[in-house]
Amino acid sequence: MGAGAVATRYAAGLPDSPLDLVGVADLDVGRAESLATSNDAAAYGSLDEMLEAEPAPLVVNLTSHGAHAGVTERALAADRHVFTEKPLALETERAAELVQTAASSGLGLAAAPISHRAPTQRHAASFLADGRFGQIRLGYAYAHVGRVTEWHDDPDSFLAVGPLYDGAVYPLSLLVAWFGPVKRIRTADSLDVWPEREPRDPEADSHVEATLEFARGPVVRLAASFYAPHRSREFYSLELHGDDGSLYLGDVGALDTAVERLQVAGSGRDYVPAPIPYPTDPIEYLAGPERLAAAVERGESPTHSGKRAAHVVGIISAIERAAADGGPVPVEGSEPPAVSTTATGWTPDQAVEIRASDGGGPGDLRAAALDLPPIGFGCSRYRDGEYVDRIESIATALDAGYRLFDSAELYGNEHRIGDLLAAPGSPDPSSLFLTSKVWNTNHGHVAAACEGSLAQLGLDAIDCYMLHWPDSWEYQGSLERLAERPPAEQEALAFPTDEAGDPATVDQTLEETWARMEGLHDRGLARSLGVCNVSLDQLRTITAEARIQPAIVQVESHPYDPKPDLVEWCHDRGIRVMAHSPLSAPGLRSEPIIEEIAADHGISPAAAIVAWNVGRGVVPIPSSNDPEHIVDNLAGAAHRLSPAETERIAALADPSFER
Ligand SMILES: NC(=O)c1ccc[n+]([C@@H]2O[C@H](COP(=O)([O-])OP(=O)(O)OC[C@H]3O[C@@H](n4cnc5c(N)ncnc54)[C@H](OP(=O)(O)O)[C@@H]3O)[C@@H](O)[C@H]2O)c1
Repeated sequence: MGAGAVATRYAAGLPDSPLDLVGVADLDVGRAESLATSNDAAAYGSLDEMLEAEPAPLVVNLTSHGAHAGVTERALAADRHVFTEKPLALETERAAELVQTAASSGLGLAAAPISHRAPTQRHAASFLADGRFGQIRLGYAYAHVGRVTEWHDDPDSFLAVGPLYDGAVYPLSLLVAWFGPVKRIRTADSLDVWPEREPRDPEADSHVEATLEFARGPVVRLAASFYAPHRSREFYSLELHGDDGSLYLGDVGALDTAVERLQVAGSGRDYVPAPIPYPTDPIEYLAGPERLAAAVERGESPTHSGKRAAHVVGIISAIERAAADGGPVPVEGSEPPAVSTTATGWTPDQAVEIRASDGGGPGDLRAAALDLPPIGFGCSRYRDGEYVDRIESIATALDAGYRLFDSAELYGNEHRIGDLLAAPGSPDPSSLFLTSKVWNTNHGHVAAACEGSLAQLGLDAIDCYMLHWPDSWEYQGSLERLAERPPAEQEALAFPTDEAGDPATVDQTLEETWARMEGLHDRGLARSLGVCNVSLDQLRTITAEARIQPAIVQVESHPYDPKPDLVEWCHDRGIRVMAHSPLSAPGLRSEPIIEEIAADHGISPAAAIVAWNVGRGVVPIPSSNDPEHIVDNLAGAAHRLSPAETERIAALADPSFER
């Protein structure tokens, strides 16, 4: 019902939709005919005519603002489920009645906007869920609809209702989905500002500001305007400040996935973009009706979206009352259901399926493979033979949304990572995947090394504890806080040599060391075990005897040295492969093939190398000290290369590669 501008956006999704459009009604029957003809549907001049002629179970209400409630009411009365454009109604009581009617008739009622389900907003919700911001106490929300007479070809319906019932519904719906109900409007003010040269004036005030108090969350200052142009600096942005950090969402209503849209800042740090590290498609307008239809097909009659929409109408009425009579004004109406947020920001269905060989191992082994974030951040402090301080970069990576961090006792900075994880602005460690490694000198003291790492990281257990190398060297004592010692002492402790200057090895088999590692798993100190820098033969030795199989194998891997046999062997057995040093092979980032593929995807060569690794189910763990590179590499994980591109990159493999 309603064949105006927004109807064409809904109709655009029909070719790929399970929904069939059978009828289009509009009081302007010519408009109905044009939309109906292009979608093989029948046209009607009124809703009643259409309801009479069509038994279709779902009505999508795309009429003008003021007509929504009446159309929804008539469709519900005709026993149809309804998806309605925003707002649900223009009066609180009317909105509540619609929800009540739907519920008592066993009908589904849902309303736009559906932007809380869009990828960027869901990604933002995952940051809210991991506890990094602490208590969120303050927010700023903008809905700068702009001069509707300039950008809308049929602005009358907008001018009649004002910016609250149009633009403000976007931030309000998202905030209510995230934080639950608004308790009261503390203050509100509205202005009748409009250019004198404009022939048509808004009937409602053109600019409204209000301060909203959520029952369980922040106080939010809302500005909704027809006067402030929609190209103003703050358009539909939302900024939330917690005790421990801040979140900035550039456009609360956007349904797409632009990289810079979401930014996050831990306490005392600058904002950094937080890109989505897995492939996502923008959602379509039609996703709302589709979701409702799918629920109805499952035998449900959901009204939770309608309830949230009714609460938003209640908030707007309260803002209007507060602007007219002064605040505070309580918000009436039922408590809307909140939308649950995922705790980690990545879910198994977003995880990259590890690719096994055709004749691969049993499927249940692959199914048991760890679901890891697609990319991790390397915390080593080595850079071209020098030591660098990584802590600021690790903080940036946390803010950008990396959820896997690769550490080791050798890196000497685990106590500082622990301090960072305990500091305001860091997510709950349970939302991260953390690794550490025992160094070569500690193969006989695996338990003490692991306990030391855990104490420094501030953890009870580590997600994966790994053997840094298969080689065993002479014990030199604890390596705790290695980075705080003078460089020569660090070298002597970590790289003991014999009289000939070769590594001072000890006679200790890989199987013996692995058995000690298994003891850590038995004690619950390591949730999984891993091994680094192994050959396939060494891996076979470990797995042949192991009571607890390695869950992760970490090796150097990049296009020059892809190690396909090892990767395939691991994937066949449900072992995940992590690629260390994925970007730093000399000349790799300036290989013409990499540069061309990167340019075709509009990403950097480093991001293309990340995408290549992620696409074959391998988790790259690049490091960087440059905030732009840190974000770039994370965003690279969302790209997938084509088979032809992957094949081109395969040509770079160099069996003699060494460094
Ligand atoms: N298990 C092991 O034995 C082992 C061995 C080595 C490494 N690792 C792990 O692997 C991690 C990464 O290895 P790595 O640090 O040796 O090497 P890497 O990640 O392959 O490369 C880091 C280098 O690449 C540059 N870089 C990163 N992103 C870039 C981008 N987007 N554009 C341009 N340049 C970029 C960095 O410079 P900028 O700082 O300027 O960005 C730095 O010079 C380590 O931190 C460690 O966790 C493990």
